Amino acid sequence: MKNHIERLFPTQIYRAEIPGAAALNLELEDASMALSQRDAKGRRWCEKHGYAGYTSYASINDLARRSKPFARLEKIIHAHAGQFAKSLQWELRGGKPLCDSLWVNVLPQGGSHTSHIHTNAVLSGTYYVTAPQGASPIVFEDPRHGLMMAAPPRKTSVYESRSPKAGTLMLWESWLRHEVPMNRAKEDRISISFNCVIG
Ligand SMILES: [Fe+2]
Repeated sequence: MKNHIERLFPTQIYRAEIPGAAALNLELEDASMALSQRDAKGRRWCEKHGYAGYTSYASINDLARRSKPFARLEKIIHAHAGQFAKSLQWELRGGKPLCDSLWVNVLPQGGSHTSHIHTNAVLSGTYYVTAPQGASPIVFEDPRHGLMMAAPPRKTSVYESRSPKAGTLMLWESWLRHEVPMNRAKEDRISISFNCVIG
């Protein structure tokens, strides 16, 4: 019998380049920047928690109801989250992944977002509105990392870095640890992150 190696339990990352993103991104950029000016509660939260730039994460939970471009994005996310759920072989018993939160991140030069997971969710992801030259990638961590104990170091990294473009949508399972290293672009890196639950 010929030897062979099977690859079991791969970690899936979903990526799509959204058609017609340029027009949508102009609207999302305007709406995001307007929000960053208007949302005093969000700005206070960022200051208190040392978040460089602006996020609506802790201050606004109904963006898709407030503004048309966010509603359009939410619809796009739902379509792709449904596709991803099929690839993940989820038995949903009539349910589907639906956004229960969606927030803006305006990350200036020098800003970063340390390693984290998204609790109380099944799918998480980010849509990239702007990704200027030098913008931070997103870095995913091998979910087996905490189990490696006495394993020798690998020639491959336990971190995988991906550089999205403006108009890229990425999805992953919410337990997958990830981070955004320092943004080296002179311009803001604007993204919209979200969590989905089964609804
Ligand atoms: Fe995240």
